[in-house]
This record gives sequence, structure tokens and C-alpha cells, in this order.
Amino acid sequence: MKITFLFVIAFSTSVLCSSPPPKYDSIFSFGDSLADTGNFLLSGALKFPVIGNLPYGETFFHRATGRCSNGRLVLDFIAKGEKFEHGVNFAVAGATALDAKFFYDRKIGPILWTNDSLSVQLGWFNKLKSTLCSTKEDCANYFKRSLFLVGEIGGNDYNYPFFAGGNITQLMAMVPLVVETIAAATSMLIEEGAVELIVPGNLPIGCNSVYLTLFRTSDKAAYDQNGCLKAYNTFSKYHNSQLKLALEKLRQKYPHAKISYADYYGAAKRFFHAPHHYGFSDGTLVACCGGGGPYNFNNSARCGHIGSKACLDPKAFANWDGVHLTEAAYRHISMGLVNGPFTSPPLTFSPINAF
Ligand SMILES: *[C@@H]1O[C@H](CO)[C@@H](O)[C@H](O)[C@H]1NC(C)=O
Ligand SMILES: *[C@@H]1O[C@H](CO)[C@@H](O)[C@H](O)[C@H]1NC(C)=O
Ligand SMILES: *[C@@H]1O[C@H](CO)[C@@H](O)[C@H](O)[C@H]1NC(C)=O
Repeated sequence: MKITFLFVIAFSTSVLCSSPPPKYDSIFSFGDSLADTGNFLLSGALKFPVIGNLPYGETFFHRATGRCSNGRLVLDFIAKGEKFEHGVNFAVAGATALDAKFFYDRKIGPILWTNDSLSVQLGWFNKLKSTLCSTKEDCANYFKRSLFLVGEIGGNDYNYPFFAGGNITQLMAMVPLVVETIAAATSMLIEEGAVELIVPGNLPIGCNSVYLTLFRTSDKAAYDQNGCLKAYNTFSKYHNSQLKLALEKLRQKYPHAKISYADYYGAAKRFFHAPHHYGFSDGTLVACCGGGGPYNFNNSARCGHIGSKACLDPKAFANWDGVHLTEAAYRHISMGLVNGPFTSPPLTFSPINAF
């Protein structure tokens, strides 16, 4: 195996003040571009090299970090709020919950950005484990003081087939497989000693600029009051309801574990419903960075490519590059998770303020 832990970024957040004592010693994160803080870029980012250049990262870091946004992600806000001193992030942009083989067997493998699916990321975790702790008991003691973020993951399992022409009826059949895979990963981490886990659901993809562009229709009835595609949002909700059921089963199996479902859908739906309330004066459906079209997503001129440009005020937009959200949107989602009602059971975190 060629995997080295150069791929695996440890992000450390500087501890600015010493009290109150941190609740967790470390954070472990798995997932895709919603959580990747640089792994995909380090792996070469062959399918998405623009991630290594501005305007990616322009707002907060003032340089490209490998994050698929103009700034920080949900994970950054959570990690900063909780003042984690140690963390390992295994998330890789483009990653799927199901193994790459699933997509190669169905002839859509070549469009995958990466083969570093959830099981590959869990494999990295298992390798790293031997450097953190030795005996089962030792590891359990270590992991019970850690927070595990299992996702968001699964969104790409649907993105790739949808973008390759799959229809909703066909994709519904994948949902149980994707959900089972996420639940199995969660279960494996608990067996390793994880006690506190956050498992996010999918975003409202019917409000996403790339979906709105690819599946644009003159049928007004296809859109909800916010201009989102109803059928695709219903699809996200279906995945989320199945995931919640699977997590409920895990809670019964592992009563000692605290498995929180993070409702990314609900936390994001708020700003799609009332953009102005959240400072999105330029809207939530049109991407900040893109190459034209009604939603500023142009597949021939995607963000970072010739023919595209970034908006002047990204905080007035929820969508960054047509696919991923802006830092401002991720910040509102984080606040919804940490301060608001969008995790169940609720997190016992220090509140996120306007940092
Ligand atoms: C993923 O795996 C396939 C099949 O083994 C391979 O052809 C492809 O190059 C791999 N993709 C990446 C991005 O490594
Ligand atoms: C979806 O695709 C399947 C298989 O190709 C086809 O039988 C079905 O009619 C399609 N459904 C819709 C709603 O387009
Ligand atoms: C999309 O980008 C291409 C290439 O830059 C450009 O020719 C085309 O006009 C753009 N489409 C829209 C709708 O702006």
C-alpha cells in the first residue's frame, strides 16, 4: 500500500485562551468536499486542479488551502469553537460513501474525482490508530475523549450518477446502500471506542446551482416557493430520513454512545427560505463564482477556469462555485448545528459567535 499519512492533514487550532478546559482532546473527521481541508489537493487533485488556486480560499485564508470554498467549512467553525488541539481530517473532496468499485462497475467510475471512499478513509484511521494507542482499552480511553464527525458523506454517491444522467427513480434504489455504508462506518468507529459522534445528512440539493442548471425546466410546478427543485429536495429528504432511522438503530445497539444526527438540510433550508435574513442580499441560488448562466454555473467555465469570475462580495451569496457553499453559508449551518436546533440529540458545545 502506497498510502502515506502525508495525505492526512492534521489541523491544529491555536488555543487563544486557556479556559474553559476543552471537552475533547481531539477530533477525527471523515467525508467529502464539505469537510476536506486539503487532502484532495495534496493527493494531486487531478480532476479538479483549480482547487489549488485563488479564488478558492480568497476570503479567509487569502490563499488556496484545498477547501472547496472561499473560506472556512463547518468543520473549521466547530473545531475552532471547541478549541481542539489535535485533530485528524481524513475527508477527501469528491469522496463517496460507497467504494469506487460500485461506480466503476456501473460505468461511471471515470468521472469520480477520487477513489478515497469512506472505507479507504477508515483504513487510514486504522493505520493511524496504531500510532495513537496500543491496546484495545488504551484506544477506547483515547477515543472516548475524541469527537468523530462522520461526514457529510454520501452526497457524491448521488451527484455522480445524477450528473451522468441517472434519474431520481433509479437513484432511490441506491439510498439504502449509501445509508448502510455510513451506518456501518459509524458502527465500526463505536466498536473502536468512539463515544461522541456527529453524523450529518445531505444538503437540499434541489437548491444547488449545479442541479438548478442541469435540471432546469419550464415546468413552474417543479419549483418550490424558494426557487428550488422540489423533486431533488425530496430526494435529499429521503436519504436523510433513512439515515436517521439507521442512526436510531445504532443508538439502540450502542446505548453508551452519543450519536448526533446533524441536519444540514434544515440548517441550510433556513437561508434558502429567507436569504435576506441571513445576509444573502445577492441570493442563495446563483453562485458567486462561475461563468454565466441563470445560476452562474457554466460547465464550460466553472469557477477557477477561464471565462469565470468570482463575485465581489461572497458573503452576500450562499453558493460559492455552483456546487459548494460559501464560508458565510457554512457559518450559518455551523451556528444552526451548535447554537440551534439542527442536531439531535443536541450538541453540548460552546456557542459559536460571529467569528
Ligand atoms: C480509481 O481506480 C480506478 C480503477 O482501479 C483507476 O483506473 C483510477 O485511475 C483511480 N482513480 C484515481 C483518481 O486514482
Ligand atoms: C428512469 O430510468 C429508468 C431506467 O432507465 C426508466 O425505466 C424510467 O422510466 C426512468 N424514470 C423517469 C421518471 O424518467
Ligand atoms: C459559458 O462559458 C463559455 C466558455 O467561456 C461561453 O462561451 C458561454 O457563453 C458561457 N455561457 C453562458 C450562458 O454564459
